[in-house]
Amino acid sequence: MESFVINGGQRLKGDVFINGAKNAGVAVIPATVMSSGVCVIDNLPNIEDITSLIEAMRDIGAKCSFRDEHSIIIDSRSINNYIAIGEPVRKIRASYYLIGALLGRFKKAEVALPGGCNFGNRPIDQHIKGFKALGAEVMIENGIVKAHAKELIGANIYLDVVSVGATINIMLAATFAEGQTVIENAAKEPHIIDTANLLNMMGANIKGAGTDVIRITGVKELKGVEYTIIPDQIEAGTYMIAAAITGGDVTVKNIIPKHMDPLTAKLSEMHCSIFEGDDFIRVVGNSELISTNIKTSAYPGFPTDLQPQMTALLSIAKGTGVITENVWENRFQYIDELKRLGCQVTVEGKVAVIEGGAKLTGSKVNATDLRAGAALVIAALAAHGRTEIGNIRFIDRGYESIEKKLASLGANIVRIGEGSTSENISFMKKTV
Ligand code: EPZ
Repeated sequence: MESFVINGGQRLKGDVFINGAKNAGVAVIPATVMSSGVCVIDNLPNIEDITSLIEAMRDIGAKCSFRDEHSIIIDSRSINNYIAIGEPVRKIRASYYLIGALLGRFKKAEVALPGGCNFGNRPIDQHIKGFKALGAEVMIENGIVKAHAKELIGANIYLDVVSVGATINIMLAATFAEGQTVIENAAKEPHIIDTANLLNMMGANIKGAGTDVIRITGVKELKGVEYTIIPDQIEAGTYMIAAAITGGDVTVKNIIPKHMDPLTAKLSEMHCSIFEGDDFIRVVGNSELISTNIKTSAYPGFPTDLQPQMTALLSIAKGTGVITENVWENRFQYIDELKRLGCQVTVEGKVAVIEGGAKLTGSKVNATDLRAGAALVIAALAAHGRTEIGNIRFIDRGYESIEKKLASLGANIVRIGEGSTSENISFMKKTV
């Protein structure tokens, strides 16, 4: 098992370039299932979740080849079956987009229930509600979602919960449905707009993505296109928070600053200095950060995927911070690992109270999921001494070369494999 070893205390300085958005890539790739031509998707992050999804695409017959590490050519004309139940499908959450895409294309889909980070119950009832409204029969048998329809007819669907996955999945299934489908109470995340933009470029007729009412008018066919996905707002936010916690001066490049507004506002409240350009944000930390309160919510609210990282940051700020997790039922499971580094947090249900001013010290910890792992990295960067973080395969799911990017900013971080120990790593810069 690989680990990260971090010797904390360095102020991060310099530029970091952000990759394409994981949560856009994992939606755009399944969307190409519906194309009658060849698609090229650019700016994909080189991360585990994308690799797993490409394996799942190959399993159903798609011809996929990497033009380079961030660009893939997908020929879906060779897809010869609507059944996706292999291991790659079970590993990631976003494999559920194959249900909407295969149902849209074949009017049939059999896809294993998705995997993904464990935040407690992660239902897909709203996805199923949408598929049924379009005329599909849906059942779950032996851990497989089985959907089939004689025909798919446009319908009005009101989501009981603002759901990114359900919004995108219904958009996919409705693309070829007869007539108009209206999704109300739709999620508005940037990756929903990105997926709708790809589909429209292919020939779909989708209006209103990015608002809470999306209208899809069925079309007959989608052509192959070349498409570049948006930058990753969560990767960008993770590096902005890393700059803040180390009192550093970091410019996060190749981003859409608008997507960062909720975090930018919070970092400013905490007395960071923020400078925004067309495609970058510069964060200058402050040795006297003050605490703030966070309530996560669907976009454009504060993103739940930056909640663990903010818990780490609030631990060293002055004062008491309160984080309310309004999206997931149980997304504080990582707190015990943060406490090993000296964070002082108490959790009651959906609310975490963070006592600021903690003096963080290095320890051995384990990542419990993707963004929790990122939070441990962030805390370790500010901790005095050596931290070893295990289970970093979680982190590799969503961050491309995180250790290289942090090292380029001056962090003392190395990846160690099974069996080697950090003490004998000669190239690791010694720190006090
Ligand atoms: C997407 O998950 C992201 N994953 C998550 O990011 C992110 O936390 C989440 O959106 C919220 O922004 C991907 O895009 C692959 P939801 P998703 O459906 O689509 C409830 C990361 O770290 N719900 O918007 O699964 C659900 O329980 C990951 O990159 C239902 O009740 O999230 C939750 O409380 C972690 N029924 C809320 O809605 C449903 O049918 C939001 O979930 C679907 C969802």
